[in-house]
Amino acid sequence: MHKNTQKFVITGGRRLCGEIALQGSKNSALPIMAAAFLAQGETVLKGCPKLTDVYSAMRILTCLGCRCRMEGSNAVIDSSSPGSFSISDELMGEMRSSIMFMGAILGRMGECEVSAPGGCELGPRPIDMHLAALRKMGAEINIRGGRIYCRLPSGRARGTKISLSFPSVGATENIILCAVRAEGETIINNAAREPEICDLCSFLRCCGADIKGDGESRIVINGIENLHGCEYTVMPDRIAGATYLSIAAAAGGELILKNACVAEMEPFLSVLEQTGCCVYSSENRIYLRRGGRLRAIKNRIRTMPHPGFPTDAQAVLMAALITAEGTSVFEENIFDCRYRHTDALIKMGADIEVMGKAAVIRGVDRLHGAEAEATDLRGGAAVAAAALSADGTTVLTGIGHIDRGYEKFEEAVTSLGGIIRRE
Ligand code: EPZ
Repeated sequence: MHKNTQKFVITGGRRLCGEIALQGSKNSALPIMAAAFLAQGETVLKGCPKLTDVYSAMRILTCLGCRCRMEGSNAVIDSSSPGSFSISDELMGEMRSSIMFMGAILGRMGECEVSAPGGCELGPRPIDMHLAALRKMGAEINIRGGRIYCRLPSGRARGTKISLSFPSVGATENIILCAVRAEGETIINNAAREPEICDLCSFLRCCGADIKGDGESRIVINGIENLHGCEYTVMPDRIAGATYLSIAAAAGGELILKNACVAEMEPFLSVLEQTGCCVYSSENRIYLRRGGRLRAIKNRIRTMPHPGFPTDAQAVLMAALITAEGTSVFEENIFDCRYRHTDALIKMGADIEVMGKAAVIRGVDRLHGAEAEATDLRGGAAVAAAALSADGTTVLTGIGHIDRGYEKFEEAVTSLGGIIRRE
């Protein structure tokens, strides 16, 4: 994980007004960068967010023998002549998405050597489904001393039918990455349906891949021998969108989100509307206005695989509901340990009780600034959102987590009139 000793000093209590153009999606860009390793040639990834995780992916690609550079907001990746199939422990540990390179390297090189990935600590994050699926596709996998060695005896994976016990985003992506150059047809049942899966598949189709059914539970991939590079624009980041909307809802004010993926954000927007905020959307814009106090959400907010309420938006919406009138209840069904942000929120005056999967939020009148720590990416953003709505000043450490997912976070908040300083 990144060592970042910087902090945000945030003074709350200001209404936030203005426009933000949404960054490209982190959770699309990262698997697409792994997919670029499969293409024999140059990929230009437009609208690639400048995030520490994206730079980690570039370092991985470079160590695999690709040439990578950022040109403005485009990531340019040349995978014409890969030179390695191994990723060091250190690079693997920088982020969770490093595991996506396993399927891509195997698909391109027929063998790979990696280790367990890093990433946010949200409870145990095993990769058993990834490994079982790759084994079913013909990979021989040996794990020794924390290193994972995978090899396809015939050099190519073989198409097969894989039924996932849970629609894991990462496992679905890894299977797709390995299957696009496999021999024959791969069918994934109970596949994840997240929009970022569709974005990955759209990119791969631009490179020549034959994939059908993405966005549904059954994805069918017909393997082809070679993929070529292409130019592709990454989809907007629906979770960054949910975060900025939650920040405006928490602090009060008016926000126009430009470059928004409205349809993909619907599971979040339909809950946000129930707080009493005015939310309008048209094409690729979302407008939010919060006048009076927010209302609590009556029904349990259950995080579920897409198209359910996204787990990645749980923390930021919670930040807005802390000062709502009434009691809201979250139920976290995706990760075992995704309420770590509640300690900081309680320190700021929130009334939150965590009971296993459930978190009960009893609305309070006001929050106050505090010394707080960001313990993971979305949790860190949630504490920043609460700080912007609180009386006084919050000193937020651990902001390396926020830099992993939000491009120019403080510039965006400042442009809305928020007071935030990086020190
Ligand atoms: C992706 O993580 C996202 N990360 C996460 O976003 C997101 O929270 C998550 O999907 C769910 O939407 C990226 O796209 C880079 P999973 P991933 O595999 O792929 C269990 C953020 O804040 N599981 O769908 O790791 C797992 O432990 C991040 O941007 C297994 O048991 O999520 C978890 O409980 C955080 N075995 C559940 O499935 C496996 O082999 C969902 O994980 C794989 C997963």
